Amino acid sequence: MSVSTIWVNLGQRSYPIYIGRGLLRRLGSYLRARGLGGKFIIFSHPEVLELYGETIRSSLTRKNVVEVSVPSGEKSKGLKTIEKVYEALAEAKATKEATLIALGGGVVGDLAGFVAATYMRGINLVNVPTTLLSQVDSSIGGKAALNLKTIKNLIGVFYQPKLVLIDIDTLATLPEIELHSGMAEVVKYGAALDLAFFKWMEEKWVDVLNLEKTTLLKTIKMCCLIKARIVEEDERDEKGIRALLNFGHTIGHAIEILAQDGITHGQAVSIGMVCEAEISRNMGILRNSDFERLHNLLSSIGLPVRVPKVDVEGVIERISFDKKNLGGKSRFILLKSIGRAFLSSNVPQSIVKEVLRRRAG
Ligand SMILES: NC(=O)c1ccc[n+]([C@@H]2O[C@H](COP(=O)([O-])OP(=O)(O)OC[C@H]3O[C@@H](n4cnc5c(N)ncnc54)[C@H](O)[C@@H]3O)[C@@H](O)[C@H]2O)c1
Repeated sequence: MSVSTIWVNLGQRSYPIYIGRGLLRRLGSYLRARGLGGKFIIFSHPEVLELYGETIRSSLTRKNVVEVSVPSGEKSKGLKTIEKVYEALAEAKATKEATLIALGGGVVGDLAGFVAATYMRGINLVNVPTTLLSQVDSSIGGKAALNLKTIKNLIGVFYQPKLVLIDIDTLATLPEIELHSGMAEVVKYGAALDLAFFKWMEEKWVDVLNLEKTTLLKTIKMCCLIKARIVEEDERDEKGIRALLNFGHTIGHAIEILAQDGITHGQAVSIGMVCEAEISRNMGILRNSDFERLHNLLSSIGLPVRVPKVDVEGVIERISFDKKNLGGKSRFILLKSIGRAFLSSNVPQSIVKEVLRRRAG
């Protein structure tokens, strides 16, 4: 099967995203083609290394390979883990020419991005995403964030990888819940930015969940293309364009952190999208039929659409830490219609509370 290449065009920081099947075993040649040498550090979780470590190791065919792994789970995404990774790199005598290979989902990707940006003020980063969520979203665009206790993604950097290698065969071992979780970010692209893609997902979501290869490849390619073009326009999230990709995330992040590992990132984003669409509808901006369409697609996929047992005041408090906020005002991504998101600073807190209470339980 052929390999698709999408470039993220950012001048000197430009990089390719390769998408296809059986690509893991060719990682070594992709690295060589990009001129990446030095020490290779495979950074992952133990269970992902168990599955794919050997394929990667044999593709690198070098002695200069070190493995560093950290436990799975959102709790790993903090400064304590980062310190341990720095120590492992120093112990392995990694220098500025080293290449950090992030093999795993968004947690590995965020940790790796932070480490690569800061260890010796920057080493090479290569993303090899192995969850649907990381293949369609987190491995692209150079954002890396860590949690501070109960505040999600509070600390972060922008740091672009040298290349992204997406091997869709890795999704065969992904637990079902994680596949569903990734679907939330897939639906997000359509809901926020692309009506035609949303319509297509309404027809094809079953095929994606069944890992039907042609549909899966097309879906991942479409998402990567949308994200690449947005990142090119607003790399550092300063123009209100990249912020649109945060549809569902203002409320989603608050719920995710309060649920304390009881919910995946994608599940929280699904609830967040339904709440933020409902806010849009209650403010008279979004038609009820569009709200219903989004609600129906997410629930058909099996994603949650109701707020779990969390304290509504707690959610409101966490929202006040959202990075989109300006001048003390909370900012939300709302929908005018499916495919047309916009940034708003004029959301009455009473409507947010009313929606959270109505959606609770
Ligand atoms: N930086 C960004 O732009 C960005 C964007 C979206 C999300 N995120 C972050 O990504 C994180 C969520 O990422 P995620 O959904 O990938 O979850 P994750 O990284 O926690 O991975 C989910 C689970 O799947 C396992 N796993 C990974 N690949 C596997 C495979 N192929 N087979 C079997 N098991 C596998 C992992 O060990 C883990 O237990 C959140 O922390 C979120 O904030 C970051």
